[in-house]
Amino acid sequence: MSTMVNRAIGLDGVVAAETALSHVDGLAGRLVIAGADVEDLSQSATFEAVACRLWEIADGHVRAQSDIGRARAAAFALVPTLLQATKGMSPIDGLRVGFASLKPVAGLAPEIVAVGAAPVFAAALSRAAEGLAPLAPDASALHAADTLRMLTGATPAPEQVRALNAYLVTVSDHSMNASTFAARVTASTQAGMFASVTAAYCALTGPLHGGAPGPVLDQLDEIGGEQHIGAWLKDTLDRGERLMGFGHRVYRVRDPRADALRIALLALDPKNARLAFAQNVEQAALTELKRRKQDRPLDTNVEFYTALLLEALQIPRALFTPMFAVGRVAGWSAHVLEHARNGRLIRPDARYVGTLPVKAA
Ligand code: ACO
Repeated sequence: MSTMVNRAIGLDGVVAAETALSHVDGLAGRLVIAGADVEDLSQSATFEAVACRLWEIADGHVRAQSDIGRARAAAFALVPTLLQATKGMSPIDGLRVGFASLKPVAGLAPEIVAVGAAPVFAAALSRAAEGLAPLAPDASALHAADTLRMLTGATPAPEQVRALNAYLVTVSDHSMNASTFAARVTASTQAGMFASVTAAYCALTGPLHGGAPGPVLDQLDEIGGEQHIGAWLKDTLDRGERLMGFGHRVYRVRDPRADALRIALLALDPKNARLAFAQNVEQAALTELKRRKQDRPLDTNVEFYTALLLEALQIPRALFTPMFAVGRVAGWSAHVLEHARNGRLIRPDARYVGTLPVKAA
């Protein structure tokens, strides 16, 4: 009985929206975004093209991809106030303030404003954490290239741009995940685009969702070396802790994004120093999880290879969750548009388990 109640509270299998934006087949390990399989899309499309396609699917309107660059340039005007307001905060927390501080920009649709602002804010917050001044966007650059340059100040190599672009495309949308649901719930009250993406970002930041990739590296560091893998896994699982980068609410097989990102990592850095060790940890973890959780298939999820790819791109660990948002804000904003077109107020019910006051006769 208690299992049934818990599952109901997690809304497992409950259909909360109709969407044409993306589709997850958790048994087949298939993810379709904007009508294409993620493995193909991540190798062939720019993030800008995918964002514009998602928006077009959502409301039928075609946007200019170049407007995303204009939105990056416009967002830079908000950076001084953002840095002032977020002094002493981590980049993860600072970006929450960033999304909340978004304002309309003349001539740009709100979804474009939000997508353009995300990397500008993330890069500025990351540099501020290192005591560095923010770098202005280049409106004519590719979103992935400009994101990397705003972070480091150096022009990225083409393979780095391809790798980050593949990442942003891979995470751009994923059906009714927790943060997208938060976006749609907020949109369903007609609170607007900026409120909705802010709500979504807040939901993303927890370790059970987009907060996992930093802890994936923390766990790999904690293991330390091949000889400790078995003992570390045993101790960690014996303590009832979760292995970061494993398990998923919907996938019962390997998350297809894990392989899309592994391919991007190999293309970027074929001799990646961490990869062989990480894959040994992955195999040992899968074996141990299978042995311990025979009734619940647990496989590698997107965050495991996200961590390795973002590390190979020399993106600071504290920025992993904001980078996830840089990609996912495309999907969140498209869901907001789609909900405005075909959704109603989302207002579920709760079973009251408290006491009822006795009414005076
Ligand atoms: N390590 C160890 N055990 C796990 C893990 C894990 N990573 N994931 C699930 N389990 C176990 C649970 O302890 C539970 O065991 P029990 O039935 O004996 O209590 C069982 O599997 C089912 O777990 P639930 O919590 O019901 O699964 P749920 O669907 O709610 O969890 C989640 C999905 C949150 C992703 C979970 O697998 C997890 O915590 N993973 C680790 C964190 C992580 O990688 N997060 C990123 C997810 S991907 C994304 O959001 C982009």
